Amino acid sequence: MDFSLQMNNWIQQIEPALEESIPKQKAFSPVLMEAMSYSLMAGGKRLRPMMILEACTCLGGDPKEAMPFACAMEMIHTYSLIHDDLPAMDNDDYRRGRLTNHKVFGENMAILAGDGLFHHAAEIMSNACLANPCKKTVAAMQTILHGAGIHGMLVGQVVDVYFEGKPMDAEILDFIHINKTAAMIAAALKSGAILGGADDALAEKFHLAGIKIGVAFQILDDVLDVEGDQETLGKPIGSDEKNQKITYVTLFGIQKSKEIASKLSDEAIAIWQEIGVQCAFLEELTKKLTCRTY
Ligand code: IPE
Ligand code: IPE
Ligand code: MG
Ligand code: MG
Ligand code: MG
Repeated sequence: MDFSLQMNNWIQQIEPALEESIPKQKAFSPVLMEAMSYSLMAGGKRLRPMMILEACTCLGGDPKEAMPFACAMEMIHTYSLIHDDLPAMDNDDYRRGRLTNHKVFGENMAILAGDGLFHHAAEIMSNACLANPCKKTVAAMQTILHGAGIHGMLVGQVVDVYFEGKPMDAEILDFIHINKTAAMIAAALKSGAILGGADDALAEKFHLAGIKIGVAFQILDDVLDVEGDQETLGKPIGSDEKNQKITYVTLFGIQKSKEIASKLSDEAIAIWQEIGVQCAFLEELTKKLTCRTY
């Protein structure tokens, strides 16, 4: 199938599944569900859930079985964005083309909406494990929680804020990128592969490709923070400079940063080609990400 058609096809499956995944609680504490849905349903690129569904499918798995994990991954990612935008973190006013969660619901509710998305993600995954109790489902959940947690996104965010305004070298910056961004992308590809039936060695290859894609993705995020456009990005530019963040752009300049990102993407594609897995969509997605404008 043509790449854009396939992409559209995944989005059309992901959006309603996400919509259905948040309970419509009208009676008590309606604000919580509203605040959770506000950011979740604001139309992100849905890159991570797409990677889960595609990795699972390209190895012969059933995307329906992977959907709860895809939704959970997008919930965890969305929670990380809500918290990342808070005044105590990056203090940004726009996200996914809308005012940030705390601008609409207040800081207290934004913190709780982020927590709500995380807890609900864990519950959805455990339900999927109970519905199909086997090593595959438990391993997929473990992979996603590991990518999000104290050895993944969370520690990346911790080191990112710790070094604000402080000198930093490329080694620390790579640690930040590998954890705050690449760990979730790697977890998406690896958990999808596991659900598709990959053995440990193959799942690790998907993980490694994800780390390379994720670092490239964050390098380009930092490039777009300098030369992007708020309208297209759906979030403000200049956030890194405002927060005195050292990025690839400040260490290497825009041109070199783009070259490093392209090289990492090529390396990710080479991993799939080497193992001979037919995943044309993932290869094309990886290529497309190197010239993204949003
Ligand atoms: C933004 O992620 C945060 C980073 C890790 C750079 P995305 O660029 O995937 O954001 P959405 O999900 O499309 O909004
Ligand atoms: C944050 O990186 C990555 C997360 C784990 C949320 P950034 O702070 O650069 O992400 P944006 O630019 O706000 O999306
Ligand atoms: Mg940040
Ligand atoms: Mg930010
Ligand atoms: Mg950024």
